[in-house]
Amino acid sequence: MRFDVITLFPASFDALSVSKIWQTAQATGKLELHTHQLRDFSTNKHNTVDEPPYGGGPGMLISVEPLVLALESIPRQKRSKVLMLSPQGKAFTQDRAQMWTQSLDQLILVCGRYEGVDERFIEGWVDECISIGDYVLSGGELAAMVVMETLSRLIPGVIGDPTSVTTDSIQSGGLKYPQYTRPSEYRGQKVPEVLLSGDHQKIEKWRQKQAHFRTLQNRPDLLKEPDILPPQLRGQEE
Ligand code: ADE
Repeated sequence: MRFDVITLFPASFDALSVSKIWQTAQATGKLELHTHQLRDFSTNKHNTVDEPPYGGGPGMLISVEPLVLALESIPRQKRSKVLMLSPQGKAFTQDRAQMWTQSLDQLILVCGRYEGVDERFIEGWVDECISIGDYVLSGGELAAMVVMETLSRLIPGVIGDPTSVTTDSIQSGGLKYPQYTRPSEYRGQKVPEVLLSGDHQKIEKWRQKQAHFRTLQNRPDLLKEPDILPPQLRGQEE
């Protein structure tokens, strides 16, 4: 998977390299990251890329021309998609991440700034606008990193133990069960007895129940989607 990011802040993406998983994935050629400084595609002598909006209103918009030039400078793979990170976009989900890792070789992520970008860029050059949640960030950089980190974990061979990906919360259809490690008692708090029993069937049943209960409490919305309910819990959601 090749990631290309168009941004005014390429240095933000150094943050990804603190992760050992990301470093190894790059070193072994499982993923590539190329950042592109939008300012390099400015068409004026002041190197600016923003203009006030027609019709008035607060802030500045990123102009269409530098965005198009930056995009056109990127070599395109066969199976490639252009994403715009924006709070106006469709919700980013684990299902979307899964679909893209399976169907794409290249993801081009465009990070907005200021109050937004000229809509003609979105209409003419962007395949999908994506939001990572119902809150407003100052720009798309953190959102692009969230998308790339999520996808990288799904690329075969990036995570050492593939079962750790399939048992992740959300990926497995709901939230994850609570987990404990040594010591078996800490300041009066005991690890649930069943986990010390060695009875794997009982442990599995307990975990499924706990995961379902936690999902019901914290994210009941996840249970309303029949597709993401784990098979063993389908039909029991009422
Ligand atoms: N840019 C600013 N806020 C955002 C969000 N919530 N998701 C994606 N991109 C954004």
